Amino acid sequence: MSDPIWLRKAEQLDLAQRMSDEVSGAAGWSDIHLIHQALPSIDADMIDISTVLLGRQLAFPLVIAGMTGGHAGAVEVNRLLASSAEKVGVAIGVGSQRAALEHPELTKSYAIVREEAPTAFVVGNIGISQLISYFDEGLIDRQVGALIEMIGADALAVHLNYLEEVVQPEGQTRARGALNALAAFVKASPVPVLAKETGGGLSVEVARTLRDIGVSVLDVGGRGGTSFAAIEAERSRTRGDHQRSELGAALATWGIPTAVSVRACSDVLPTLAVGGVRTGVDAAKAIALGAVAVGVGRPLMMCAVQGEDAVLDWLNGFQLQLRSAMFLAGAHEVMDLASTSPVVLGATSDWFRQLGLS
Ligand SMILES: Cc1cc2nc3c(=O)[nH]c(=O)nc-3n(C[C@H](O)[C@H](O)[C@H](O)COP(=O)(O)O)c2cc1C
Repeated sequence: MSDPIWLRKAEQLDLAQRMSDEVSGAAGWSDIHLIHQALPSIDADMIDISTVLLGRQLAFPLVIAGMTGGHAGAVEVNRLLASSAEKVGVAIGVGSQRAALEHPELTKSYAIVREEAPTAFVVGNIGISQLISYFDEGLIDRQVGALIEMIGADALAVHLNYLEEVVQPEGQTRARGALNALAAFVKASPVPVLAKETGGGLSVEVARTLRDIGVSVLDVGGRGGTSFAAIEAERSRTRGDHQRSELGAALATWGIPTAVSVRACSDVLPTLAVGGVRTGVDAAKAIALGAVAVGVGRPLMMCAVQGEDAVLDWLNGFQLQLRSAMFLAGAHEVMDLASTSPVVLGATSDWFRQLGLS
C-alpha cells in the first residue's frame, strides 16, 4: 500500500534537510558574469531593490518557494517562513494543498501562512496529477475556490513534477488530459495562475503552450537546486524499491539548468528563476537573464528549522548581496539589470547556442 500523503510530505521535508546532494548539476550561475562597472554613478544605499510582481510591491524580488503543509511538522516551518515574509516584505508560497483538500483537519498547517502574513503576496499550490483527477470528476471550480479560501491566496501555482513522479514509489504518471485540466483550472481561477516545475526546468515550447492557455507567470524550477529525483530515490531505497532508487540515480542530472530555462522562458511570460538560487548575486544574474524575480526553497527551509532569527538573517544577507551586485553592475533599479548584457561562458553558453538562445 502506498504511504499517506502527509507521511510522504513529512519524509520529503526531513530528507531535504538531511541530504547534502541537493544539486543535480549546476544551475548555471557560475557561467554568468555581470560586467563590473568601476565607476558607479550613485551610492550603494541609493540602489532601489524593490520590485512589482503581479501588481504587488515586493521589498526585493524574492518569493519564498512553496514547500510545505499537510503534516504536524509543517505548521512551525510555515509559521516562521510566513512571519519572516511579512516582516521583510516578500512573497511566499505554500506546499501542495492536496493534503488539506483530502483531510480538512490539516488546513491549519497552510492557513497559518495567511495568519502570520496578513499583507504578503501568498501563492497557493496544487499538482498537475491532482488537477487531472479533479477535471475528470468535475471538481475544478470547487477546488479552485477551496484552494484560494484556505490561505487567502493571491495567486495559485500548479506544479508540473513528472520528474519527481516517475521516481516516487507512489508516483502518478498519468499525463493525458493534463493540458485540458490546466486550461480549465486557469479559466476557473479568479486569481493569476503560475505554472511551476520542480527541478526539470521549462522549455520554450512548454512556456508557449502555457502562455496560450492563459497561465500568467512561469516558475522555471530548473535543474541545479533541490533534486526531487534524489529525494525520491532515497525514499525508494529505504522501501527496498531498488529499481526506482536506481532510476532516481540515473536521472540525477536530468533537466534544463535554471539559468538556461530562465533565458528560454522569459521572452514568453514573466518568469521566476527557481532552482539553486543561493545568493543575491545569483538573483542579479537571473534578472539579467530575464527573470522578474527569484524563488528560494531549501536554504530558507533549513533556516526555518533553526528559528526566525536564522530566516531573517538569511533574507537580510540576500538583500545585501543583491544590492551590492546591482551597485557593481551599474543598476539603479532591479529592472535595470535586464538591460545589462552578461557574458555567458562554459556549459551554459553551449546550452544557449544549441537551443538558439542569445
Ligand atoms: C521539502 C520541500 C518540499 C517541497 N514541496 C513542494 C510542493 O509541495 N509543491 C511544489 O510546487 N514545490 C515543492 N517544492 C519545490 C520548491 O518549491 C522549489 O521549486 C525547489 O525547492 C527548488 O528551489 P531550491 O533549489 O531553492 O530548493 C518543495 C521543496 C522542498 C525543499
